[in-house]
Amino acid sequence: MWLIVSTLALSPGVEAADRPALLKDAFKDYFAVGAAVNRSMVTGGAAFRRSAEQNEMDVALLKEQFNQISPENDLKWQLVHPREGADGFDFGPADSFVNFGLSNRMQIVGHTLVWHSQTPNWVFAGTNPPPASATNTTPSPAVGAAATNGPGLARFGRGFGGYTGPRASREELLQRMRDHIHTVVGRYKGKIKTWDVVNEALADGTGTNVLRNSLWLQIVGPDFIAKAFEYAHEADPDAILRYNDYGLENPEKRKKLIALIKMLQARKAPVHAIGSQAHINVSTSFEIMDQALTEIATLGLPIHITELDVNSAQSGQRNTGADIANNAATAQGNLVADADKKLADAYGGIFRAFVKHRNAVKMVTFWGVNDAVSWRAQGKPLLFDGNNQPKPAFDAVIAEAKLSTSK
Ligand code: G3I
Repeated sequence: MWLIVSTLALSPGVEAADRPALLKDAFKDYFAVGAAVNRSMVTGGAAFRRSAEQNEMDVALLKEQFNQISPENDLKWQLVHPREGADGFDFGPADSFVNFGLSNRMQIVGHTLVWHSQTPNWVFAGTNPPPASATNTTPSPAVGAAATNGPGLARFGRGFGGYTGPRASREELLQRMRDHIHTVVGRYKGKIKTWDVVNEALADGTGTNVLRNSLWLQIVGPDFIAKAFEYAHEADPDAILRYNDYGLENPEKRKKLIALIKMLQARKAPVHAIGSQAHINVSTSFEIMDQALTEIATLGLPIHITELDVNSAQSGQRNTGADIANNAATAQGNLVADADKKLADAYGGIFRAFVKHRNAVKMVTFWGVNDAVSWRAQGKPLLFDGNNQPKPAFDAVIAEAKLSTSK
């Protein structure tokens, strides 16, 4: 059992060469290596898809291998600030997350402040009639209905920008954004040192629109992004503020990222790092990642790989999106042929690129600790299997660290 082996390996009599490798040590001269954690990992007990014992083993693996954590869900607006007003915050799980990181001396990332998804309807609600062009077919629960704290969709809401009722004014929405950011960032000032300030604001596809058509864009206008960064910087001037998005391995989406960040830099918005989610698939190679990092690095900002996983499901091989509704299906069905080897080759190439770009890449976060807790578990996208055993992809990643130090 991996965890037992590694505990033995920490005993003084064991030769260094026989010690199992640890991700956080292997890359310590280059970048932090982290993982997204779910609520049970920081509060204890049974989790969605995991027994209490399995969860305990997941936590042990997390502490052993990783030196940075991101909350998979608990700092999203829907969860931390489900209701309007001063009493509208539920900080319990987020506090547990932060305390876990502090007690285990891990770098703590906050995810995420402003997003089109997982935002309760009350945030966008007001008295202005929606424009006739507001064409969203998603049935929208009454304002506040998604604020219940029950399980499943009610708890998380179908918050994909589906609110169609009367709207807040630009001023009201900016005020709510500012209050939210000041309260949440302020609470964890000096503890959460890196924030995903704006998440997934770029449009998909090859069209000419740079920005996604969200309620933030419709109600506030394109400067909602700069405003979010300004508010976060006011709340914690020392925090590293990231713009975070997916699909940046795709040249079209990358062009939009570069246009957006240049625009923000021109108006001196305090954007300090680029978050590249990297929800990718096994056909992603060294060359693809090298090209992406080369171009993103021209912006002159640190690059953080924020949500890394490599889908091995056959059906996911052309998908580069990260919206859960569209992507869930792509992690279903059979794995690609020779999946373990393809996954190892892909991870090896990707980490070769990260190490090559070590002057820019400062953090690499996996979106989960093992396949069982992954949001696309059936695509077996991570380095450890559901029993926390390292897969060939783990060895391929460690090999890249060794290769780089032997050069
Ligand atoms: O906890 C409930 C459980 O009680 C219930 O039985 C189950 C039934 O479906 O749902 C569970 O909640 C789910 C939750 O994840 C925890 O697993 C929600 O339905 C589901 O909507 C939620 O999905 C999260 C998703 O973001 C939407 O917020 C995923 O965990 C999370 O991995 C994913 O993460 C996003 C990043 O924030 C942004 N980038 C893309 C990435 C992947 O979609």
